Amino acid sequence: MAGGTLPATNATAPHPDSPPRIPAGLLPRRVAVAMDGNGRWARERGLSRSEGHRAGAGRLPELARAALEVGVEQVLVYGFSTENWRRSPQEVSGLMRLAGQALGAQRAELHAMGVRVRWSGRPGRLWKGVIGELRATEELTRDNQRLTLDLCVNYGGQAELVDAVAAIARQVGAGTLRPEAVDEAVVARHLYQGDSGDVELFLRPSGERRTSNFLPWQLAHAELVFMEVLWPDFERRHLWEAVQIYADRHKRRGG
Ligand code: IPE
Ligand code: IPE
Ligand code: MG
Repeated sequence: MAGGTLPATNATAPHPDSPPRIPAGLLPRRVAVAMDGNGRWARERGLSRSEGHRAGAGRLPELARAALEVGVEQVLVYGFSTENWRRSPQEVSGLMRLAGQALGAQRAELHAMGVRVRWSGRPGRLWKGVIGELRATEELTRDNQRLTLDLCVNYGGQAELVDAVAAIARQVGAGTLRPEAVDEAVVARHLYQGDSGDVELFLRPSGERRTSNFLPWQLAHAELVFMEVLWPDFERRHLWEAVQIYADRHKRRGG
């Protein structure tokens, strides 16, 4: 099964070498991807976890290219969670160093592709250099319109909801918002990217079948697709296959 999808989820899915042609009504516009499996990929090769993370970071432009080619409008990627601080200090500092380097190295390529990059997460313990690279990437790509790439770094879904609730509570406390006026739209506006709608497709490689605190609000109605491929082996066809699975499921649901 290495490299393919779990049997339960891909009964009808092809393995395309070119982007599937999906009718607009069946194409997910917003897709979330948890970049998971770097550690296992490295262990299989007798490499360090850091080398796995380096290989994984290198797949980001491939993901963006795959999304552009199939017509997805927004990709949200999970790069570092609020729980990932619990890993060893060596792994965490390696990840911080790598995040800064990878952003610096990939910024121009993503910009040339017409990708607008945004950061979602808490500053918190993030290294200043990483925040600087994230801000510089946002700044360079802010006017691009072909694809929006949300980098979720020091991101936690529960933290995002806590931050939204706190902001709303402050406004209620200040008397600028009535409690009765708080509804789904108000909460959505207070998420890190207040303009984003529901995410239609969640893709997790590496065989794990969890969402791991990624986008609990935005994934409320999403199709969940789990694949065996480890993130450093991720290719464009894996995204296309997930998009095809999404389209097939939607057809069965009646569009
Ligand atoms: C995902 O790969 C990268 C991050 C969470 C930063 P992992 O490091 O979780 O790899 P596995 O799950 O141990 O294989
Ligand atoms: C989720 O993967 C976070 C990222 C992909 C960045 P983890 O590997 O950290 O999640 P768990 O520990 O398996 O739930
Ligand atoms: Mg993992």
